[in-house]
Amino acid sequence: MTDDNDASIPKEPAVSHDESGRAVATRDGEHALPERFENPGLPPHVHRQGDHDEAAAKRSERQVAALFTISMLATVLFVVAYAMIGKDDDVTLPILGKVHALNVALGVTLAFSLLGIGLGAIHWAKTLMSDEEVVEERHTLRSDDEARAGAIKVLTDGAESAQINRRPLIKYTLGGALGLFAIPLGLQLVGGLGPFKGDVNDLRTTLWDTGVPVLGANGKPEMKNGKVVTRPRRLMRDPEGTAIRLSDVTLGSVFHVLPEGINNTPEPSNEKVKAAVILISLQENKIKSARERDWGLDGVVAFSKICTHVGCSVGLYEQTTHHLLCPCHQSTFDVTEDCKVIFGPAKRPLPQLKIEVDDDGYLYAPHGFEQPVGPSFWERG
Ligand code: FES
Repeated sequence: MTDDNDASIPKEPAVSHDESGRAVATRDGEHALPERFENPGLPPHVHRQGDHDEAAAKRSERQVAALFTISMLATVLFVVAYAMIGKDDDVTLPILGKVHALNVALGVTLAFSLLGIGLGAIHWAKTLMSDEEVVEERHTLRSDDEARAGAIKVLTDGAESAQINRRPLIKYTLGGALGLFAIPLGLQLVGGLGPFKGDVNDLRTTLWDTGVPVLGANGKPEMKNGKVVTRPRRLMRDPEGTAIRLSDVTLGSVFHVLPEGINNTPEPSNEKVKAAVILISLQENKIKSARERDWGLDGVVAFSKICTHVGCSVGLYEQTTHHLLCPCHQSTFDVTEDCKVIFGPAKRPLPQLKIEVDDDGYLYAPHGFEQPVGPSFWERG
């Protein structure tokens, strides 16, 4: 039950409307809204110092040019940093701690390069370009020829008002800043096309393709015809770094493996992400492929651990089905049949590493993988 006289319920104002339905006044005549608001017009135009003082305009011009010059210098420094700073060089910064020097240098120089162009353009617009407010009346969508000619005139006048021709210093420094700014974009594009042949990131070669030096009785590498004598790399447990004997590999066991001597290379982490291998022992009669059996030893087989989809580590082995599973997107590889893909987005089998056993009973790889490891890439062949 509600009481019409209840003072706690706010009353709706009685509003009257005009023909178009617009509210114009309350019925009691109070707070009437005007039918039309007056156009307040534009505030009076205030001239800037540079509008009447050529010395101030010149000063602004130099400031704009200085900002564009800062952008150019930053772009040049970007290129120098890209060429000179190593990918593994670190630098310690307050708050951030230890970070990659190359990332910091590229980020800071790119920021100054963009800031210089942005601040220069804003300062130019605020101090030198015309600041007269103009009103454009509405017109039909397709302008008539006269209006179109007018638009061209406005654009021409705009270019004149920006003083681009009168201020060659700005014209050239802006051209330089914008022109040089294209270089970092191109550099990143070209840099992203790799890895190039011979690069440590080149997926066609891994540490298994090279040997380790044979040490003589004096503990120094043996030399023959002026060259260091090498032998194939042994399979080492990851992370213990100990060599694996064939007799250690019991039926059903799995070993995570890295090549011997990997920690003595200049870029061990880059080598590890390419050369990681999984060693599996299964009953030899379960292996369906003669080639796979041939590249293994009594049912012990080794495959690249780098997923051929996008390079995650394929480390989950299902012993009863002999399936290797990649945890990233569930690509599944059949170990009994050349590690072919039986499920998931990967497009090609995991490359196999041929293994043999030396006189001391240790496993070694006589040569590297026949196929590039990891994700497919267009020039893989
Ligand atoms: Fe292995 Fe995607 S990286 S399935």
